[in-house]
Amino acid sequence: MKKVAGVLCLLLVFIAGALAEQYPQIANVYNRKITSLNGKWKYIIDQGDIGRKRGFWLQERPESRSDLVEYSFETARQLDVPGDWNSQSDELLYYEGKIWYQRDFSFSPDEEKRYFLYFGAANYHTEAYLNGKRLGSHKGGFNPFNFEITSLLQDKNSLVISVDNSRHEEQVPTLVSDWKNFGGITRDVLILEENDSFIRDFSIQLKPGSGNTIEAGIALDRAVETGEVVLEIPELNIREKIRINNSDRGSASFAAGNLLYWSPEHPKTYEVHLSWGGATLSDRIGFRTIQTSGTDILLNGKPVFLRGISIHEENPFTRGRVHAREEARMLLNWARELGCNFVRLAHYPHNEHMIRLADEMGLLVWEEIPVYWDIQWDSPRTLSLASEMLDDLITRDRNRASVIIWSVANETDISEHRNLFLRSLIDQAREKDPYRLISAALLANGENHNSRMKVVNDPFGEYVDIISINHYTGWYGSALPDALKQVDWEVKFDKPFFFSEFGAGALAGYHADSLTRWSEEYQAWYYRETLSMCERIDQLRGMSPWILTDFQSPRRPLGNIQDGFNRKGLISSKGEKKMAFYILQNFYLSKQ
Ligand code: GCU
Repeated sequence: MKKVAGVLCLLLVFIAGALAEQYPQIANVYNRKITSLNGKWKYIIDQGDIGRKRGFWLQERPESRSDLVEYSFETARQLDVPGDWNSQSDELLYYEGKIWYQRDFSFSPDEEKRYFLYFGAANYHTEAYLNGKRLGSHKGGFNPFNFEITSLLQDKNSLVISVDNSRHEEQVPTLVSDWKNFGGITRDVLILEENDSFIRDFSIQLKPGSGNTIEAGIALDRAVETGEVVLEIPELNIREKIRINNSDRGSASFAAGNLLYWSPEHPKTYEVHLSWGGATLSDRIGFRTIQTSGTDILLNGKPVFLRGISIHEENPFTRGRVHAREEARMLLNWARELGCNFVRLAHYPHNEHMIRLADEMGLLVWEEIPVYWDIQWDSPRTLSLASEMLDDLITRDRNRASVIIWSVANETDISEHRNLFLRSLIDQAREKDPYRLISAALLANGENHNSRMKVVNDPFGEYVDIISINHYTGWYGSALPDALKQVDWEVKFDKPFFFSEFGAGALAGYHADSLTRWSEEYQAWYYRETLSMCERIDQLRGMSPWILTDFQSPRRPLGNIQDGFNRKGLISSKGEKKMAFYILQNFYLSKQ
């Protein structure tokens, strides 16, 4: 017991130290006053951790022609930021390790204002320095982070950032995952300008089950003795005062009036304005309710079937991480073309553009943190990482009507440690955001792909709202797709049942008879048999087949077929639609 207490104390010191360096997440960044630092940055590959030993952030220069300085950003090559490094240079295609970035920038700081340096994401371990001074560090590859730089900003500035994407057992995800471990500053880098006191974060949602009561919560940057935030939704003639007393927070609930609900068919959003201290922060927010009732999923009180597809955050044409709004639009347009009303953004939080576009386009969204396969369930450090990722994800996206499901895990073996770890994440999600459903991609009776009777009895099903299963009979194991004719399902929970994955591989353009593995015909056969099986499952309320596009993975080396790609995409790594795309599209058209 003493050992556990000691570990927990160490962990608290560790978390406090890390968080003390970072500034709490500032939400709704794209509607704030921002200056982009995107562009060409210099970079130095650091394979021996020399940057830390030599203090690359000091940017030493020889004072005389005899001086020895063994690094220089001035003579370094350049990378685009945002962007993973792997897809930008052949020498970096498989690089895993540390890279130092550097850029100069001019700025005219206003002494009345405060300034924050914001990263949409960087994979995985980031250390940041401005004008030779350390800002702090961040661990996590897919969640935003920011540092206050008010006291360090000057007219001429130099930013030095190290990013290390080395994999470690205690990280989230852990050592092994079926996707490419892209490294680098993978999302936007922005400078935020704020007043001395400002609204840092807020939640404005329809109260569950109410249908027309809006609940608003506001978080300021710091506690104040007294004050009020004015919340306005002009189109609904709403103007509410939210009082704040001896706190950094305030809340209010009020009638929503004659609200038009957000839905995939009518993705209606409203301009919302929050005024505090002479400044107004705006956002566009859709209002809807999402609940379960028995085995039904209810969107705005009506049963909905989730016609989905799983998506990795990868651009098939650049073979890099998606980071730009137009790339996000490309992926979501393919999902719309497929007939989807739902997307599962696997296996980690995607860039914010994806979710804001889903709001605009009318796509329901499943978001998840990368608790993927069996991570270090009994490590307090691993739990703190997963918990921080979940908290950051909810803070960033909880005002997006499109997001209806938070998922806390993917394919994790049944164990007490796993259940305790994931239950704490579920409790955290429900406490922070009671407005959405909780799920996790589970497995049916282990991974016995050949069994005909699939029993869904993972004890963890007790804690989620939607029972989601990844299922690969007909692809993995010895059974072929025709075995699916005999497969029956027994779901031990009176809850909505959902296929978070099923899929088969095919090399686009490879045609043969349907028994030939990797042919488009085999994948098409698999989809026909699987969709016929789905039609027989009365409790099924949706699916997000694996996956929209082929994607890179270190686990897929089969020459001339995989060549480093997982080929379960319905669209190839060149953007070609395979036969199975049209089979699923027809199925979804029949479901509309
Ligand atoms: C698993 C896993 C995916 C993986 C897929 C596959 O279900 O969740 O990340 O890519 O199966 O094997 O293709």
